[in-house]
Amino acid sequence: MTLDAALADRIRQTPKAELHVHIEGTLEPELIFRLAQHNKVKLPYASVEALREAYAFTDLQSFLDIYYAGASVLLTEDDFFDMTMAYVQRAVADNVRHAEIFFDPQTHTERGVPIHVVIDGISDALAQARTQYDFSSSLILCFLRHLSEEDAFATLEAALPYRDRFVGIGLDSSEQGNPPEKFARVFARARELGLHLVAHAGEEGPAQYVTDALDILKVERIDHGVRAIDDPALVERLARERVALTVCPLSNQKLKVYPDLRDHSLHRLLEAGVLVTLHSDDPAYFGGYMNANWEAAFEALPLTAADGHKLARNSFEASFLPASQKTAFLAEVDHFWQSPLPAAASTA
Ligand code: ADE
Ligand code: ZN
Repeated sequence: MTLDAALADRIRQTPKAELHVHIEGTLEPELIFRLAQHNKVKLPYASVEALREAYAFTDLQSFLDIYYAGASVLLTEDDFFDMTMAYVQRAVADNVRHAEIFFDPQTHTERGVPIHVVIDGISDALAQARTQYDFSSSLILCFLRHLSEEDAFATLEAALPYRDRFVGIGLDSSEQGNPPEKFARVFARARELGLHLVAHAGEEGPAQYVTDALDILKVERIDHGVRAIDDPALVERLARERVALTVCPLSNQKLKVYPDLRDHSLHRLLEAGVLVTLHSDDPAYFGGYMNANWEAAFEALPLTAADGHKLARNSFEASFLPASQKTAFLAEVDHFWQSPLPAAASTA
Protein backbone atom coordinates (compact mmCIF):
# COMPACT_ATOMS: atom_id res chain seq x y z
CA MET A 1 0.00 0.00 0.00
CA THR A 2 1.36 3.45 -0.78
CA LEU A 3 0.79 6.16 1.73
CA ASP A 4 -1.11 9.22 0.50
CA ALA A 5 1.32 12.17 0.45
CA ALA A 6 -1.01 14.53 2.32
CA LEU A 7 -1.65 11.97 5.06
CA ALA A 8 2.09 11.20 5.26
CA ASP A 9 2.68 14.88 5.81
CA ARG A 10 0.05 15.03 8.53
CA ILE A 11 1.39 12.10 10.49
CA ARG A 12 4.90 13.52 10.33
CA GLN A 13 3.78 16.92 11.51
CA THR A 14 1.26 16.04 14.18
CA PRO A 15 2.33 16.78 17.75
CA LYS A 16 2.94 13.42 19.44
CA ALA A 17 4.21 11.83 22.64
CA GLU A 18 6.83 9.08 22.78
CA LEU A 19 5.99 6.64 25.58
CA HIS A 20 8.17 3.69 24.62
CA VAL A 21 11.82 4.42 23.93
CA HIS A 22 14.85 2.93 25.68
CA ILE A 23 17.51 5.62 25.88
CA GLU A 24 20.23 2.98 25.41
CA GLY A 25 18.41 1.96 22.24
CA THR A 26 19.01 5.40 20.75
CA LEU A 27 22.79 4.94 20.73
CA GLU A 28 23.75 5.18 17.06
CA PRO A 29 26.72 3.10 15.80
CA GLU A 30 28.78 6.25 15.11
CA LEU A 31 28.37 7.39 18.72
CA ILE A 32 29.10 3.85 19.98
CA PHE A 33 32.42 3.91 18.13
CA ARG A 34 33.27 7.44 19.19
CA LEU A 35 32.64 6.61 22.87
CA ALA A 36 34.46 3.26 22.60
CA GLN A 37 37.56 5.04 21.31
CA HIS A 38 37.36 7.82 23.86
CA ASN A 39 36.74 5.46 26.79
CA LYS A 40 39.13 2.75 25.53
CA VAL A 41 36.39 0.11 25.53
CA LYS A 42 37.08 -2.80 23.20
CA LEU A 43 34.16 -3.72 20.95
CA PRO A 44 33.76 -7.09 19.21
CA TYR A 45 33.18 -5.20 15.90
CA ALA A 46 35.91 -3.75 13.69
CA SER A 47 33.94 -0.79 12.30
CA VAL A 48 30.65 1.10 12.26
CA GLU A 49 29.75 -0.86 9.11
CA ALA A 50 30.55 -4.22 10.74
CA LEU A 51 28.39 -3.27 13.72
CA ARG A 52 25.51 -2.21 11.46
CA GLU A 53 25.81 -5.49 9.58
CA ALA A 54 25.31 -7.36 12.87
CA TYR A 55 21.85 -5.75 13.17
CA ALA A 56 20.19 -8.72 11.49
CA PHE A 57 18.11 -9.95 14.38
CA THR A 58 16.25 -13.24 14.56
CA ASP A 59 14.39 -12.62 17.82
CA LEU A 60 14.44 -10.47 20.97
CA GLN A 61 17.46 -12.19 22.54
CA SER A 62 19.61 -11.82 19.42
CA PHE A 63 18.95 -8.08 19.65
CA LEU A 64 19.49 -7.80 23.41
CA ASP A 65 22.97 -9.37 23.13
CA ILE A 66 24.09 -6.60 20.76
CA TYR A 67 22.17 -3.87 22.60
CA TYR A 68 23.99 -4.65 25.88
CA ALA A 69 27.35 -4.75 24.04
CA GLY A 70 26.56 -1.32 22.55
CA ALA A 71 25.67 0.14 25.97
CA SER A 72 29.03 -1.01 27.38
CA VAL A 73 30.73 2.11 25.94
CA LEU A 74 28.78 4.43 28.29
CA LEU A 75 30.96 5.37 31.24
CA THR A 76 30.72 9.04 32.16
CA GLU A 77 27.99 11.58 32.80
CA ASP A 78 28.95 13.27 29.51
CA ASP A 79 28.36 10.00 27.63
CA PHE A 80 24.82 9.72 29.01
CA PHE A 81 24.25 13.42 28.34
CA ASP A 82 25.41 13.18 24.70
CA MET A 83 23.34 10.07 24.00
CA THR A 84 20.22 11.70 25.48
CA MET A 85 20.70 15.01 23.68
CA ALA A 86 21.16 13.20 20.34
CA TYR A 87 17.84 11.42 20.94
CA VAL A 88 16.04 14.64 21.88
CA GLN A 89 17.18 16.33 18.66
CA ARG A 90 15.81 13.48 16.56
CA ALA A 91 12.56 13.43 18.52
CA VAL A 92 12.10 17.18 18.15
CA ALA A 93 12.62 16.82 14.38
CA ASP A 94 9.75 14.29 14.38
CA ASN A 95 7.43 16.67 16.28
CA VAL A 96 7.59 14.69 19.51
CA ARG A 97 6.52 17.20 22.16
CA HIS A 98 6.73 14.94 25.20
CA ALA A 99 8.67 11.73 25.95
CA GLU A 100 8.59 9.24 28.82
CA ILE A 101 11.98 7.65 28.47
CA PHE A 102 13.13 4.25 29.76
CA PHE A 103 16.59 3.74 31.18
CA ASP A 104 18.17 0.47 32.36
CA PRO A 105 20.38 1.29 35.39
CA GLN A 106 21.42 -2.35 35.92
CA THR A 107 23.08 -2.43 32.48
CA HIS A 108 25.48 0.18 33.82
CA THR A 109 25.77 -0.49 37.56
CA GLU A 110 26.69 -4.12 36.73
CA ARG A 111 29.76 -2.68 34.92
CA GLY A 112 30.70 -0.48 37.87
CA VAL A 113 29.13 2.77 36.64
CA PRO A 114 27.49 4.46 39.65
CA ILE A 115 23.74 5.04 39.33
CA HIS A 116 24.13 8.79 39.94
CA VAL A 117 26.33 9.05 36.81
CA VAL A 118 23.53 7.48 34.74
CA ILE A 119 20.72 9.54 36.25
CA ASP A 120 22.62 12.86 36.32
CA GLY A 121 23.83 12.55 32.73
CA ILE A 122 20.39 11.72 31.33
CA SER A 123 18.43 14.16 33.46
CA ASP A 124 20.84 17.08 32.82
CA ALA A 125 20.27 16.61 29.08
CA LEU A 126 16.50 16.51 29.57
CA ALA A 127 16.61 19.67 31.70
CA GLN A 128 18.54 21.45 28.94
CA ALA A 129 16.10 20.11 26.31
CA ARG A 130 13.20 21.59 28.25
CA THR A 131 14.58 25.13 27.94
CA GLN A 132 16.33 24.79 24.58
CA TYR A 133 13.55 22.97 22.66
CA ASP A 134 10.49 23.27 24.90
CA PHE A 135 10.74 19.46 25.01
CA SER A 136 8.72 17.93 27.84
CA SER A 137 9.95 14.65 29.32
CA SER A 138 10.13 12.28 32.26
CA LEU A 139 12.09 9.13 33.07
CA ILE A 140 10.98 5.56 33.79
CA LEU A 141 13.46 3.27 35.52
CA CYS A 142 13.33 -0.25 34.07
CA PHE A 143 14.32 -3.46 35.80
CA LEU A 144 16.01 -6.15 33.72
CA ARG A 145 13.77 -9.18 34.01
CA HIS A 146 16.55 -11.71 33.28
CA LEU A 147 18.07 -10.65 36.63
CA SER A 148 16.60 -11.51 40.03
CA GLU A 149 13.89 -9.65 41.92
CA GLU A 150 16.45 -9.14 44.68
CA ASP A 151 18.64 -7.26 42.21
CA ALA A 152 15.63 -5.16 41.18
CA PHE A 153 14.98 -4.31 44.86
CA ALA A 154 18.62 -3.24 45.30
CA THR A 155 18.35 -1.06 42.18
CA LEU A 156 15.15 0.59 43.42
CA GLU A 157 16.82 1.25 46.77
CA ALA A 158 19.90 2.78 45.07
CA ALA A 159 17.65 5.00 42.94
CA LEU A 160 15.53 6.34 45.79
CA PRO A 161 17.83 9.28 46.59
CA TYR A 162 16.93 10.43 43.03
CA ARG A 163 13.21 9.76 43.44
CA ASP A 164 12.34 13.19 42.03
CA ARG A 165 14.10 12.39 38.72
CA PHE A 166 11.82 9.55 37.61
CA VAL A 167 8.06 9.09 37.52
CA GLY A 168 7.75 5.35 37.29
CA ILE A 169 9.23 1.90 36.90
CA GLY A 170 9.12 -0.57 34.04
CA LEU A 171 10.20 -4.11 33.23
CA ASP A 172 12.20 -5.06 30.14
CA SER A 173 14.78 -7.49 28.67
CA SER A 174 14.17 -11.23 27.97
CA GLU A 175 10.46 -11.90 28.34
CA GLN A 176 10.31 -15.65 27.74
CA GLY A 177 10.78 -17.53 31.01
CA ASN A 178 10.72 -14.33 33.08
CA PRO A 179 7.01 -13.87 33.79
CA PRO A 180 5.50 -10.82 35.53
CA GLU A 181 5.00 -12.67 38.85
CA LYS A 182 8.78 -12.87 39.31
CA PHE A 183 8.63 -9.12 40.13
CA ALA A 184 5.38 -9.00 42.13
CA ARG A 185 6.95 -7.72 45.37
CA VAL A 186 9.16 -5.03 43.90
CA PHE A 187 6.25 -3.66 41.87
CA ALA A 188 4.10 -3.64 45.04
CA ARG A 189 6.84 -1.66 46.79
CA ALA A 190 7.12 0.83 43.91
CA ARG A 191 3.35 1.25 44.01
CA GLU A 192 3.51 2.08 47.73
CA LEU A 193 6.11 4.71 46.84
CA GLY A 194 3.64 6.35 44.47
CA LEU A 195 5.54 5.48 41.30
CA HIS A 196 3.76 4.85 38.01
CA LEU A 197 3.98 1.24 36.83
CA VAL A 198 4.46 -0.16 33.32
CA ALA A 199 5.86 -3.44 31.99
CA HIS A 200 6.82 -5.03 28.70
CA ALA A 201 4.40 -7.92 28.18
CA GLY A 202 3.03 -9.85 25.22
CA GLU A 203 5.92 -8.92 22.93
CA GLU A 204 7.30 -12.46 22.53
CA GLY A 205 5.53 -13.79 25.60
CA PRO A 206 1.90 -14.95 25.59
CA ALA A 207 -1.29 -12.94 26.13
CA GLN A 208 -1.36 -14.42 29.65
CA TYR A 209 1.68 -12.24 30.53
CA VAL A 210 -0.41 -9.17 29.65
CA THR A 211 -3.17 -10.34 31.97
CA ASP A 212 -0.61 -11.11 34.70
CA ALA A 213 1.10 -7.73 34.32
CA LEU A 214 -2.30 -6.11 34.91
CA ASP A 215 -3.51 -8.38 37.72
CA ILE A 216 -0.27 -9.16 39.56
CA LEU A 217 1.95 -6.14 38.88
CA LYS A 218 -0.98 -3.71 38.60
CA VAL A 219 0.63 -1.83 35.73
CA GLU A 220 -1.09 1.18 34.16
CA ARG A 221 0.25 0.65 30.62
CA ILE A 222 1.54 -2.37 28.73
CA ASP A 223 4.63 -2.01 26.56
CA HIS A 224 4.06 -3.84 23.26
CA GLY A 225 1.16 -6.10 24.32
CA VAL A 226 0.60 -7.05 20.69
CA ARG A 227 -0.02 -10.70 21.53
CA ALA A 228 -3.12 -9.68 23.47
CA ILE A 229 -4.84 -10.22 20.12
CA ASP A 230 -4.72 -13.98 20.84
CA ASP A 231 -7.21 -13.54 23.71
CA PRO A 232 -10.49 -11.85 22.67
CA ALA A 233 -11.67 -11.44 26.29
CA LEU A 234 -8.41 -9.66 27.10
CA VAL A 235 -8.80 -7.35 24.09
CA GLU A 236 -12.28 -6.45 25.35
CA ARG A 237 -10.90 -5.81 28.81
CA LEU A 238 -8.07 -3.59 27.54
CA ALA A 239 -10.60 -1.51 25.60
CA ARG A 240 -13.04 -1.30 28.52
CA GLU A 241 -10.37 -0.37 31.08
CA ARG A 242 -8.61 2.06 28.70
CA VAL A 243 -5.25 0.32 29.19
CA ALA A 244 -2.73 1.67 26.69
CA LEU A 245 -0.57 -0.63 24.57
CA THR A 246 2.63 1.18 23.55
CA VAL A 247 3.22 -0.47 20.18
CA CYS A 248 6.51 -0.28 18.23
CA PRO A 249 5.99 -1.40 14.62
CA LEU A 250 9.60 -1.42 13.36
CA SER A 251 10.78 -3.22 16.49
CA ASN A 252 8.14 -5.91 15.99
CA GLN A 253 9.17 -6.26 12.37
CA LYS A 254 12.93 -6.43 13.03
CA LEU A 255 12.57 -8.87 15.97
CA LYS A 256 10.26 -11.10 13.89
CA VAL A 257 7.20 -10.63 16.09
CA TYR A 258 5.48 -9.51 12.87
CA PRO A 259 8.03 -9.99 10.06
CA ASP A 260 5.44 -8.57 7.65
CA LEU A 261 3.86 -5.40 9.02
CA ARG A 262 0.74 -6.05 6.96
CA ASP A 263 -0.04 -8.79 9.51
CA HIS A 264 0.46 -6.53 12.53
CA SER A 265 -2.29 -6.66 15.14
CA LEU A 266 -2.25 -2.92 15.86
CA HIS A 267 -4.97 -2.13 13.35
CA ARG A 268 -7.25 -4.85 14.72
CA LEU A 269 -6.57 -3.71 18.31
CA LEU A 270 -7.36 -0.11 17.37
CA GLU A 271 -10.60 -1.21 15.67
CA ALA A 272 -11.54 -3.12 18.82
CA GLY A 273 -11.29 0.15 20.77
CA VAL A 274 -7.94 -0.48 22.47
CA LEU A 275 -5.91 2.61 23.34
CA VAL A 276 -3.01 1.87 20.99
CA THR A 277 -0.05 4.25 20.78
CA LEU A 278 2.91 4.18 18.35
CA HIS A 279 6.59 4.47 19.33
CA SER A 280 10.18 3.68 18.39
CA ASP A 281 11.50 1.30 21.14
CA ASP A 282 15.21 1.16 20.13
CA PRO A 283 15.34 3.44 17.09
CA ALA A 284 19.10 3.21 16.48
CA TYR A 285 18.75 -0.56 16.07
CA PHE A 286 15.42 -0.92 14.31
CA GLY A 287 15.74 1.53 11.44
CA GLY A 288 13.91 4.59 12.56
CA TYR A 289 12.62 7.07 15.08
CA MET A 290 9.01 8.10 15.73
CA ASN A 291 8.03 9.27 12.26
CA ALA A 292 9.59 6.23 10.59
CA ASN A 293 7.46 4.02 12.85
CA TRP A 294 4.29 5.96 12.10
CA GLU A 295 5.02 5.89 8.38
CA ALA A 296 5.75 2.15 8.39
CA ALA A 297 2.46 1.44 10.15
CA PHE A 298 0.44 3.69 7.83
CA GLU A 299 2.13 2.23 4.76
CA ALA A 300 1.45 -1.37 5.75
CA LEU A 301 -2.05 -1.09 7.22
CA PRO A 302 -5.34 0.50 6.13
CA LEU A 303 -5.03 3.37 8.61
CA THR A 304 -6.87 6.63 7.90
CA ALA A 305 -6.54 10.30 8.85
CA ALA A 306 -9.06 9.64 11.63
CA ASP A 307 -6.71 6.94 12.93
CA GLY A 308 -3.79 9.38 12.76
CA HIS A 309 -5.73 11.87 14.85
CA LYS A 310 -6.69 9.13 17.30
CA LEU A 311 -3.13 7.76 17.61
CA ALA A 312 -1.76 11.24 18.29
CA ARG A 313 -4.48 11.84 20.92
CA ASN A 314 -3.87 8.42 22.46
CA SER A 315 -0.17 9.17 22.91
CA PHE A 316 -0.95 12.13 25.21
CA GLU A 317 -4.00 10.47 26.77
CA ALA A 318 -1.86 7.50 27.88
CA SER A 319 0.96 9.69 29.20
CA PHE A 320 1.69 10.32 32.86
CA LEU A 321 1.48 14.08 32.37
CA PRO A 322 -0.52 16.11 34.90
CA ALA A 323 -4.13 16.67 33.75
CA SER A 324 -3.63 20.35 32.84
CA GLN A 325 -0.68 19.60 30.52
CA LYS A 326 -2.49 16.64 29.02
CA THR A 327 -5.49 18.82 28.23
CA ALA A 328 -3.27 21.46 26.64
CA PHE A 329 -1.48 18.93 24.41
CA LEU A 330 -4.78 17.29 23.43
CA ALA A 331 -6.17 20.69 22.40
CA GLU A 332 -3.06 21.22 20.28
CA VAL A 333 -3.54 17.83 18.60
CA ASP A 334 -7.23 18.52 17.92
CA HIS A 335 -6.43 21.93 16.50
CA PHE A 336 -3.77 20.42 14.23
CA TRP A 337 -6.07 17.71 12.81
CA GLN A 338 -9.04 20.05 12.45
CA SER A 339 -7.10 22.67 10.50
CA PRO A 340 -7.23 22.47 6.71
CA LEU A 341 -4.14 21.07 5.00
CA PRO A 342 -1.73 23.66 3.66
CA ALA A 343 -2.19 23.98 -0.13
CA ALA A 344 1.16 22.39 -1.00
CA ALA A 345 0.47 19.32 1.12
CA SER A 346 -3.14 18.86 -0.04
CA THR A 347 -2.22 18.84 -3.72
CA ALA A 348 0.92 16.71 -3.32
N1 ADE B 1 15.05 -3.60 26.02
C1 ADE B 1 15.23 -2.76 24.98
N2 ADE B 1 14.35 -3.02 24.02
C2 ADE B 1 13.57 -4.03 24.45
C3 ADE B 1 12.48 -4.74 23.90
N3 ADE B 1 11.99 -4.47 22.69
N4 ADE B 1 11.95 -5.74 24.63
C4 ADE B 1 12.42 -6.03 25.82
N5 ADE B 1 13.45 -5.39 26.38
C5 ADE B 1 14.02 -4.40 25.70
ZN1 ZN C 1 10.84 -1.76 24.70
